[in-house]
Amino acid sequence: MALNEDDFKKVIAHAKEYGFVFPSSEIYDGLSAVYDYGQQGAALKNNIKEYWWKAMVQLHDNIVGIDSAIFMHPTTWKASGHVDAFNDPLIDNKDSKKRYRADVLIEDYVAKLEAKIDKEVEKAAKRFGESFDKEQFLSTNARVLEYQQQGQSILQRMGASLSSENLADVKALIEELEIVCPVSGSKNWTDVKQFNLMFGTKLGASADSAMDLYLRPETAQGIFVNFLNVQKTGRMKIPFGIAQIGKAFRNEIVARQFIFRQREFEQMEMQFFIAPGTQQTWYEHWKEQRMKWHLSLGLGANNYRFHDHEKLAHYADAAADIEFKFPFGFKELEGIHSRTDFDLGSHEKFSGKKLQYFDHERNESYVPYVVETSVGVDRMFLAVFSNALCEEQLDNDTTRTVLRLPAVLAPTKAAILPLVKKDGLPEMAQEIVDQLKWEFAVAYDEKDAVGRRYRRQDALGTPFCITVDHQSLEDRTVTLRHRDSMEQTRVAIQDLSQLIGAEVNMQHWLQKIQ
Ligand code: GAP
Repeated sequence: MALNEDDFKKVIAHAKEYGFVFPSSEIYDGLSAVYDYGQQGAALKNNIKEYWWKAMVQLHDNIVGIDSAIFMHPTTWKASGHVDAFNDPLIDNKDSKKRYRADVLIEDYVAKLEAKIDKEVEKAAKRFGESFDKEQFLSTNARVLEYQQQGQSILQRMGASLSSENLADVKALIEELEIVCPVSGSKNWTDVKQFNLMFGTKLGASADSAMDLYLRPETAQGIFVNFLNVQKTGRMKIPFGIAQIGKAFRNEIVARQFIFRQREFEQMEMQFFIAPGTQQTWYEHWKEQRMKWHLSLGLGANNYRFHDHEKLAHYADAAADIEFKFPFGFKELEGIHSRTDFDLGSHEKFSGKKLQYFDHERNESYVPYVVETSVGVDRMFLAVFSNALCEEQLDNDTTRTVLRLPAVLAPTKAAILPLVKKDGLPEMAQEIVDQLKWEFAVAYDEKDAVGRRYRRQDALGTPFCITVDHQSLEDRTVTLRHRDSMEQTRVAIQDLSQLIGAEVNMQHWLQKIQ
């Protein structure tokens, strides 16, 4: 269920209360835009990473995974273009003294136009009822067409101005659109300036010999510098991919919206090396594949959309985002970029080493082209978590908070609960824990009345509760309670593994992608 912005506070509070996400170094009042994952959060995050890794590496015989270092030779970032071009255009409001990304202010303006289109669609759907044809309405209604046209021309102009570094025009656009500061409400803006997002640090003990380094702002470069190592040692033939999961760091200026935009975060990236001229086909292929991966988790097809970039990064000849409907609106979840031969070509130039591939079929050497898929672990976490949280009205006029996580990602698959803390029930429950723990992440809980324990597991997103009662001692059966339906069935202990596995095993979920 999608939430609105007001409920976003509940998402953050729930994440903290149930051990998913804590503000970093909280006892010192936290650190802005840095978060720690707690006992539940770490498990959910690991499951997301495993789901991605299996889909990309295990299920593709032409994709391998690596784990490169966070520190890289500083020339890497010259070659990649990050030293010169990894900037955000910033603008300050002179009255509130608040700093904004100029492109985000403009994109938010366009998002409001899109919201107006949605409203028109809603109104028309009500008016025309069953006979409403959304596609036709979107392509013919004069007001909708005007909003669309306006939005497109704003984004095009912004893209062109940013690409040509015409920051004066970006400011002019903000002024023409009469965008106001959300805090002060004023249009009293400074000029737009570029700000580099990389964190600098030093390697070495003495001040004279220390080398200036950067914390990597993306994991991709660790893949590019290892292209030949992997290709040769893995005897890889083009087309092939190299995947990795790891931390990245960016000195984000507008770091807000909880774990959506952080200064330290994790990426799951895959660089797919291809022959020049085939990039359009592979770009479309990976757009489709990645969307299928997202859809396989069952968060709802309406919650995703593609957004093709007007403003291309310095390395790309085509780029699209997969956007997700977060509680604060549609925002980027994953990027798919056709990076041409920019990266390997540039590393060749800066390192003086040949980074080429001899293609036996074409009988020629070339610098491979690259299509990249890049998704943030933390954004995946937020998408899954915020989508899952709901407050349900029950028949008996009470409510329950339930985290409807995809069962494959749930931190705990089953909680084993002795009905009472005596008569041998805890021992039998423990026996079931010992039987299931080899296959699934399970938890044991004997504290409080069983109804309260169910509620706690619902709030943690545990798909199954197994309750051991007095009958269990006699016939070795238990009740199996389903989180979403709250339905309880009596099942034999020996069938538990099969029943739980049918719903939580990764294989069943991954098969939906094929
Ligand atoms: N290698 C290409 C690259 O890094 P990007 O669009 O800058 O492209 C890819 O980042 C993904 O990384 C984004 O789609 C997002 O999911 C995640 N990401 C980027 N910046 C982030 C931040 N500050 N906090 C959390 N996730 C972030």
